[in-house]
Amino acid sequence: MAILITGGAGYIGSHTMVEFLNAGRELVVVDNFMNSKPEALERVRKITGKDFKFFQVDLLDKEALDKVVRENNIDSCIHFAGLKAVGESCAKPMLYYHNNITGTLNLCEVLAKYGAKRIVFSSSATVYGNPASVPITEDFPLSTTNPYGETKLMIERILKDIYNADNEWSISVLRYFNPIGAHKSGLIGEDPQGIPNNLLPYITQVAAGRRECLSIFGNDYNTPDGTGVRDYIHVVDLARAHLKAIELAETVTGIDYFNIGTGVGYSVLDIVHAYEKATGIKINYKITARRPGDIDECYANPKKAYEVLGWKAENNIEDMCRDSYNWQRQNPNGYDS
Ligand code: NAD
Ligand code: WQD
Repeated sequence: MAILITGGAGYIGSHTMVEFLNAGRELVVVDNFMNSKPEALERVRKITGKDFKFFQVDLLDKEALDKVVRENNIDSCIHFAGLKAVGESCAKPMLYYHNNITGTLNLCEVLAKYGAKRIVFSSSATVYGNPASVPITEDFPLSTTNPYGETKLMIERILKDIYNADNEWSISVLRYFNPIGAHKSGLIGEDPQGIPNNLLPYITQVAAGRRECLSIFGNDYNTPDGTGVRDYIHVVDLARAHLKAIELAETVTGIDYFNIGTGVGYSVLDIVHAYEKATGIKINYKITARRPGDIDECYANPKKAYEVLGWKAENNIEDMCRDSYNWQRQNPNGYDS
């Protein structure tokens, strides 16, 4: 039997494929390349020396998706495919709702039709909104502040209703904190198009000389040094959490929610300093205005993932910075290099 990976060519999907292939799992991958490149899949083959089936399919094309599931012995799914840029989601809400929600509904309908009622879903710490305190546990109240976050929350609710209606499903909702870093080989990594929205890709491009100076969005937050605090997690650790989640889903039915973070909060300035230490490169920065919608602090209590999945993060912040720079150095223009 095979595992269907949606969005496998993307940043987290490609790293997860490596872990699954190395664990001897059979994979069938779909992606429409709306935010990724075919080269990422070639690199996965190169790292692992293993093959998998790939179909260029859009989740909005239900017939094509039906054919993939019908013809490939799929019994479970890891669902990464979706759009993820917060700012873009505010500018193009219909695109985000349609792609993320309709895509997920199509997927669940097709999986149910062929009895593949096992799914791991990529949710996000964004569903905790502006948390009243940190660290965050899975039972914190849920809320969102932008259409992207709204799609994650709606999909979580849809999955709950799907389970309530049919208890044969096994559903793991993984709420990722801030994934960064890259595979140690430097062959796969995050490849943002245009100006990066997120902190680490921006710092990496400053380190590589592609951008002049990092803008730190505000130093008047209620944090030890005034800059925003987040829970950064190495993408390979995150990838391994999916393997644990699938292993559990193969033995139990139900729906459950897991924070996937390290439990440690780092400020923007901490990250700049860690990056400098890991790479020996000075990062130019200036303090600018706050970015609308940003919060003071967000970090996980990851205890439940350890107790129930047997998973915990292994890499520290210097590993994350070093690996992210290694990927950038080897691929100055991402997969187009
Ligand atoms: P990514 O954009 O690199 O990967 C997503 C992949 O899905 C891309 O390859 C894209 O082409 C594909 N895709 C999108 N819509 C599709 C559709 N309709 N049909 C087929 N393929 C489609 O993003 P990522 O960082 O790897 O994130 C993966 C998942 O994790 C997303 O659901 C994202 O919302 C979630 N997530 C990401 C982060 C993060 O910071 N990277 C944090 C929390 C949650
Ligand atoms: C981190 C910190 C910024 C860029 C986002 C999404 C979230 C999730 C992960 C998908 C903040 C500061 C950033 C820059 C800066 N994605 N910063 N200068 O906002 O925590 O989370 O990605 O689910 O939903 O919102 O991540 O990397 O953008 O920002 O000072 O150029 O870095 O203000 O404090 P964020 P980020």
